[in-house]
Amino acid sequence: MNERPNPTPSNKTALSAPKGIPDYYPPQSTEFRAIRQNFATAADNAGYEHLELPVFEDTGLYARGVGESTDMVSKEMYTFADRGGRSVTLRPEGTAGVVRAVIQHRLDRGQLPAKLCYTGPFFRYERPQAGRYRQLQQFGVEAIGVDDPALDAEVIALADRCFKSVGLTGYRLELTSLGDWRDRPAYREKLQGFLAKLDLDEETRRRAEINPLRVLDDKRPEMIAQLQEAPLLLDHLSAASREHFETVTGLLGDMGVEYVVNPRMVRGLDYYTKTCFEFVHDGLGAQSGIGGGGRYDGLMAQLGGQDLSGIGFGLGLDRTLLAMQAEGVQAGAGRRVDVYGVALGEGARSRMPIIVDQLRARGLRADMAYGGRGLKGAMKGADRAGALFALVLGDQELEQGRVAVKDLGTGEQVDIRLEDLTEHLAVRLGER
Ligand code: HAM
Repeated sequence: MNERPNPTPSNKTALSAPKGIPDYYPPQSTEFRAIRQNFATAADNAGYEHLELPVFEDTGLYARGVGESTDMVSKEMYTFADRGGRSVTLRPEGTAGVVRAVIQHRLDRGQLPAKLCYTGPFFRYERPQAGRYRQLQQFGVEAIGVDDPALDAEVIALADRCFKSVGLTGYRLELTSLGDWRDRPAYREKLQGFLAKLDLDEETRRRAEINPLRVLDDKRPEMIAQLQEAPLLLDHLSAASREHFETVTGLLGDMGVEYVVNPRMVRGLDYYTKTCFEFVHDGLGAQSGIGGGGRYDGLMAQLGGQDLSGIGFGLGLDRTLLAMQAEGVQAGAGRRVDVYGVALGEGARSRMPIIVDQLRARGLRADMAYGGRGLKGAMKGADRAGALFALVLGDQELEQGRVAVKDLGTGEQVDIRLEDLTEHLAVRLGER
């Protein structure tokens, strides 16, 4: 007798995905895919072309691109040596990789701006909690090569349209300007002067020296109180930066995109200059940022390319799904198929797979009951699939070359000739 090998206790334990790494499975996975498709369609309508980029890059790209003093680079990267001893890093974000690819493949030598979009997983070793994962999914765009406030407005309005396309309404868009290299040094000195007079703990004092702007993001109540009177970069912009920002807000107003100016916004990446923005959803608790982005003047040059500006965003697909659940809205059809075949009897059972295959060939969404289930069980299957129509085929109908089409919403049933079935369903589904 053949016996199965006796599993050792260690391989008997059920396996789980690594900590902080989410799975998306039905029915949420269908919604997840619909979000991604809606976002991609919105970007496509605005002329953005698809980029498919590697999931890991040389570690140096992020140190140079995102900034060594950021939490993302100093604490959160999945960095390891490959078998050849090279240090590589699972991508924590997309912008640095896009800029690297633009330079490498000379996409900045054609029509500008180069307008690109991308989607996929990113990896950050953060403390997992609701809405904060170690593998997160984004949809992003980057428009590289032109420093025009109209492009800032386009990118921001596009992000807004993405969220609207999946039915979200309960979010707000926050905007600010971080100025450029001309505005920063004087402001930095002023802010450091202000911070020096405060009662700060050791770590915050260190942060004030390395990146004083990030101190403004401190969420502790005692710090918020101390920072009330802090000088704000928005009040210290050069005339050029101010004009840029005012043009962006003016255009957004004319486009009907609602926003609030938040001069205290701090983004977790070092490359931003001028326009910066974040979409915040109130239904999500602590992890309320559903998307964000901004302009980056120096990044192309920093990574060895031409001195060209760019602007883009990353929208969090995981958090978008959570926000939709919080609002009770759906982006997908909410049903697995439209048509469900129910075969009763031997002959019908061997014919139904062919019927269903023909429906699919016509572009209809169809499935059927397998495993010789009776009428009741099969109709339950149709119901679970969310089908709009059931096709009930018995051997007697088959002999007459007919099939019953049952509208599962109204319960109405019509008798159709088999050769007319595909067109009949195509017309009725087209009317929905
Ligand atoms: P980011 O703000 O770091 O920007 O990420 C963008 C979005 O990704 C966030 O608003 C959030 O929705 C989502 N996200 C970030 N971390 C997590 C996490 N641990 N779990 C779940 N969702 C998360 C960037 O990545 C920039 N590259 C965006 C950009 C493009 N700026 C210019 N171009």
